[in-house]
Amino acid sequence: MILCANPKLQYLAHKDEIDGAIKKVLEGERYILGDEVTEFEKEFAAFTDTKTCIGVANGTDALHLALRAVGVCYGDEVITTAHTAVATASAIVLAGGIPVFADIEEEYYTIDPVKVREAITPKTKAIIAVHIYGQPCNMDALLSIAKEYQIPLIEDCAQAHGAEYKGKKIGSIGDVSCFSFYPTKNLGAIGDGGAVATNNDEIAQKVRALREYGWIGDKISYTIGFNSRLDELQAAVLRVKLKYLQEDTQKRRAIADDYNKQLTSAVDTPKVRDNCQHAYHLYVIQTKERDAFIETLKKADVFALIHYPVPVHLQEGFKSFAPKSGLPVTERIVHSIVSLPMYPELSFKEISYTCNIINN
Ligand SMILES: Cc1ncc(COP(=O)(O)O)c(C=O)c1O
Repeated sequence: MILCANPKLQYLAHKDEIDGAIKKVLEGERYILGDEVTEFEKEFAAFTDTKTCIGVANGTDALHLALRAVGVCYGDEVITTAHTAVATASAIVLAGGIPVFADIEEEYYTIDPVKVREAITPKTKAIIAVHIYGQPCNMDALLSIAKEYQIPLIEDCAQAHGAEYKGKKIGSIGDVSCFSFYPTKNLGAIGDGGAVATNNDEIAQKVRALREYGWIGDKISYTIGFNSRLDELQAAVLRVKLKYLQEDTQKRRAIADDYNKQLTSAVDTPKVRDNCQHAYHLYVIQTKERDAFIETLKKADVFALIHYPVPVHLQEGFKSFAPKSGLPVTERIVHSIVSLPMYPELSFKEISYTCNIINN
């Protein structure tokens, strides 16, 4: 059986180290906000080329707290994409904001800077660029809009650990960036986890306070905060996996290259933005006869999935935020996209097997 993602294989690949790290936490003195979290924060900041990293409970919280830290308040508009995990939009609403959906670039699936510019109003207080599937957004264009209108740019890097834009690490380019460590992510915990990374000391201090009751060191709330802590167990496992993240990202790229070479022109393979390094959280192709495609693969024990079948603005919970003119590209591509199996432990034999079924 070839699954679309397979975090258990990653555990098995580093079983002794992970088991040892878990045991160390169990036998240690602190289970919440101890040395493992502190060390992970330093190591992940180094990996993302940022000054500070703050571990939080999950990727949705990372976005929620980052939005509050850049000053998003009740009724403020935040521009983002509808071709994303619904969590991106949920976080905006959690912060009291209004999600304003801009359409995506057809070739790359990422937010279209032209549409972002059109969506700006005096109420716009932030832009969230989602590096969807691991593909970097057009950061030059987004940064120039953010600078022109003095709007903070937040990177949603939940799917893009290790991706690069023009030689810069994704997560180090905007004002603040947000990561998820959901088990299937490129860097996955054994439960929920997330992080905020930034070069901005003020934002870092605010996020640190917001993640724990509004405290800054002295157990006094200087603002209304939340409980969104990364726990020691998750941090310990993440520290083990982080050591292999660069190597695992290279493996994902090699798998994508192999798919690209083997798949015939019957399907559209993913394009990579110039001068960028994709992190291939997902390897997404397009095919017209999608249901038959998925069914045929399933019969051969290969599990392809659709990320994401319904754009956020067309989902029941978010339809009040749907733009009047719709999002033509977003609404079109959801009918043909399919995610093929993608994880570092996927073998070249399994890729060939999958490609043969598709090509035939
Ligand atoms: C693009 C994107 N943003 C945000 C999130 C939210 O992360 P989490 O599930 O850790 O809350 C996810 C996870 O699915 C995601 O893929």
